[in-house]
Amino acid sequence: MLLERAWLALLGLGAYLVLRSIYRLFFHPLRKIPGPRLVAITHGVEFYYNCVLDGRYIFEIEKMHQKYGPIVRISPNEVHIIDPLFYDEIYAPSSRRRDKDVRVTKATGVEGSMIATAPHDHHRIRRAILSEFFSRRSILNMTPIIDQYLQKLGDRLGQLHGSKTVVRLDNALNAFTSDIITEYCYGKSWGFLEDEHFRSDTRGALLETANTLHVGQFAPWLIRLLRRIPVHLLRRMQPGKATIFEAMEANEKRNMFDNLVDPAVPASERTLDRLQEEGLVVLGAGTETVAHTLTISIFYLSRNQEILQRLRTELKQVLPIPTSNASLLELEKLPYLTAVIYETLRLAYGPITRMPRVAPTESLRYGEHVIPPGTPMSAITYFIHRDPTLFPNPDKFDPERWLQGSQSEDLKRYIVNFTKGSRGCLGITLAYAEIYKAIAGLARRFDFELHDTSMEDLKIVGERVFAITRRGQTQVYVTVSDLAKM
Ligand code: HEM
Repeated sequence: MLLERAWLALLGLGAYLVLRSIYRLFFHPLRKIPGPRLVAITHGVEFYYNCVLDGRYIFEIEKMHQKYGPIVRISPNEVHIIDPLFYDEIYAPSSRRRDKDVRVTKATGVEGSMIATAPHDHHRIRRAILSEFFSRRSILNMTPIIDQYLQKLGDRLGQLHGSKTVVRLDNALNAFTSDIITEYCYGKSWGFLEDEHFRSDTRGALLETANTLHVGQFAPWLIRLLRRIPVHLLRRMQPGKATIFEAMEANEKRNMFDNLVDPAVPASERTLDRLQEEGLVVLGAGTETVAHTLTISIFYLSRNQEILQRLRTELKQVLPIPTSNASLLELEKLPYLTAVIYETLRLAYGPITRMPRVAPTESLRYGEHVIPPGTPMSAITYFIHRDPTLFPNPDKFDPERWLQGSQSEDLKRYIVNFTKGSRGCLGITLAYAEIYKAIAGLARRFDFELHDTSMEDLKIVGERVFAITRRGQTQVYVTVSDLAKM
């Protein structure tokens, strides 16, 4: 009897899978979008490459494009369009509604935050609460905080002068960005630059969240479960997140939280879960992203002495001695520094996972293809920044690309580290401010010599939201000479 029932159940399941496959291949709204048949009928392919092989699906998507063209059905319900000219259609401004894909937002475990709020309208409300806090005016007022921590980072690195001590640069830069973001958002830095090994819990928290994103898309219940674990137990599994939650509770000064708990904000938007999740996202988003960009910059500058020397010569106009300070407005006017920054952003990529948008009511057209409302669609930054028609010889770090007058101005729209549109990065102005200040300050004052770090160590082998290399996260080791002491 039991065996009979088991057989029946199995038969039922088999029939369901066959019928579903037939539907997905022949009747689904995406049936005419090119792509492999297996990918059209099952999420199993994505599961295999992203969960079993650790974030390798990105390269399968690349292969699909080589075979099927610029638009591909990359899972039963989702498309990817590799054409840079279509980017602004996907990542459109707020005048056109763009939801996020619930499959992704549920996998983040921070659905109370704006970044993981799927519906367009709800997201607008949440974003508006913090937008003034990250406006250009607010950021221009907070540049002394950046200067203060740049000075502190400089002091720490300066102590290593002549010692041949090897520093993990990505850690040092994460400590720098973590101190800035905690000071700015919480009114008090959490002192990561003082840590002997430049420990950064905000980076830890972000990477812990990023590491579970692929699995979370297939097992959202696991993510919900993790979120309900008391902090003292969470510490064993996700120490970064646990530390952040505890530190948030302990802080009395609450700059960003003043906005989040303002009585004008509806009570349903002021729950503890939401405050924790928004806080976690802002701290995380403001740490690894900028630090990674700076790490990539120093890596390439250290390998290209000619570029470094030319940059330094320009910097001397506003930074006459290695420890001088210049205003953001002065730095932004320097053409070569700006070119170095654009080229750095191009090869730093930002998050390289796909970040789908959904047009809930609008049909989009790509060539002969119609993308029906409700379809998650994306364009991965890694592909746009390496498109050889835009950036010939894409592997080459070449600031000259950005010094070609109006042609370079046109190219800037294809730098999409922050994505674009209504869901684009809220911290972009802060990011640029930190990047201008830190690249100028570090390149003017220090010579970094790469230690046990080559191009092979930067080669991307997969993604857990951010690039992973053969060493896991991007890791850059250096020894430091302080020009101020020479
Ligand atoms: C180079 C540095 C940075 C890069 C490459 C970057 C990249 C991004 C990207 C790609 C998104 C969209 C994510 C998605 O579609 O799911 C995003 C969103 C966001 N970023 Fe950044 N980011 C950077 C720096 C910062 C900084 C310094 C902050 C400041 C706290 C910040 C705060 C945020 C927030 C709050 C969001 C969510 C915006 C929303 O959902 O409306 N980011 N960022």
